Amino acid sequence: MVSSRTNEALRAAAVAALTFVAANATALTTPSAPAVTPVLADVDSLRKIGAEVLATHEETNVGYAKLSQTQQEALSALNHEAGRCGGFEALPYSADLEPMSPVLTHVFGQLSERELKNRQFENSSQFMSMVEPKSEIQKAVDDVSEDNLRATVQFMSSYNDRTYNGASPNTAVDALKTRIEETVKNSPLGVTVEFVNHTGIRQKSIRARIEGSTRPNEIVVMGGHLDSINQSWMGDKRAPGADDNASGSSNILEALRIISQQARPERTIEFFWYAGEEGGLLGSAEIARTYKAEKKDVVAVLQLDMTLFPGDGEFTLGSMTDFTSAWLRSYVENINGIYTKARIVNDKCGYGCSDHASWNRQGYPAVMPFEATFNGMNHNLHTAKDVIDANSNFRHSAMFSKLAIAMALDLGNSTLREQ
Ligand code: BES
Ligand code: ZN
Repeated sequence: MVSSRTNEALRAAAVAALTFVAANATALTTPSAPAVTPVLADVDSLRKIGAEVLATHEETNVGYAKLSQTQQEALSALNHEAGRCGGFEALPYSADLEPMSPVLTHVFGQLSERELKNRQFENSSQFMSMVEPKSEIQKAVDDVSEDNLRATVQFMSSYNDRTYNGASPNTAVDALKTRIEETVKNSPLGVTVEFVNHTGIRQKSIRARIEGSTRPNEIVVMGGHLDSINQSWMGDKRAPGADDNASGSSNILEALRIISQQARPERTIEFFWYAGEEGGLLGSAEIARTYKAEKKDVVAVLQLDMTLFPGDGEFTLGSMTDFTSAWLRSYVENINGIYTKARIVNDKCGYGCSDHASWNRQGYPAVMPFEATFNGMNHNLHTAKDVIDANSNFRHSAMFSKLAIAMALDLGNSTLREQ
């Protein structure tokens, strides 16, 4: 744990790291002013689209700006040209967040704290093997079924869309919850499955929970987003989201199926299917914020978002190093070395590209293994073409369920945590 004194120093450093530009407050208060969204994005990208960067977190080159719809589209277009996606993270706060606000200072403080913890870990000798092989974990890992993964991706991508703000944002969500309940109904562990309602959006997240035996307050979280989106300008408006992110959702469900048949772990394991990720990490941001406010002890967060397209070859996985924990990445490399033996290549999204960033923002250690490096990813995402096709590789995708299972059963029965 970081002492409160260190925390204060970090907060002070974060405030010092902020560079302020005068805010154009009047534009926001004019009744006819277009709606703006407060976002965090790469400073250079914000400058390129001519956005006013209201504050900068210098260590990470993350900037804060309020973007109109047109500016959001410009940023998207810019990042698409560069092979990136939307390239920004909407902040789930009111649009008139000012650069000096405690909320923004807190957000930047969290970024500084993460950088510090990662540097401390990298300078320590904790890389050494943290994990001992266990035959019962290997057996559980070997139980992963590619057929189950395919069936769940097929099921989720058969809906017209799973858009968080569409005409029926919960049709697929309701059906997914039923499928999860079916999957765990014979578990001896008494798995609870429930919706998580959100304040800002109509779509619901889903949480399944296996209560820990001896340290139930220590929680290992694994999740992926259940929503989909179609960002094409014209043509087919369906959003099947097979890779993005029925694939990660199916990995989490298959991990739950297998973990729910094992001995009860010492720590609590929670499984999430998040709503509204495509709208700016909306569901996960609210969940992570609530957990922090309730002082929940989340020891690790695994995020699975896009696992079906082996863009750098079968069994080559990317591991995003931004907005993630160096300790947890190293832990996953240990697990991989024993149980899955994939090739892991470090890369960056360059922005908080998925729900791990929501947990990271609240100071929890997160990790995001990914289907490939950033450039190798599936470029059909956010279109009607994101379906199961000849490139879909369920053997590759199965790796991610295996990592999730090994992590839950090893870390769930351990006292390891980020220092
Ligand atoms: N699956 C993507 C994230 C992603 C894309 C990760 C490419 C790694 C490589 C995710 O669903 C997504 O679309 N994220 C948005 C950002 C989000 C904050 C709205 C994006 O990347 O544009
Ligand atoms: Zn997406």
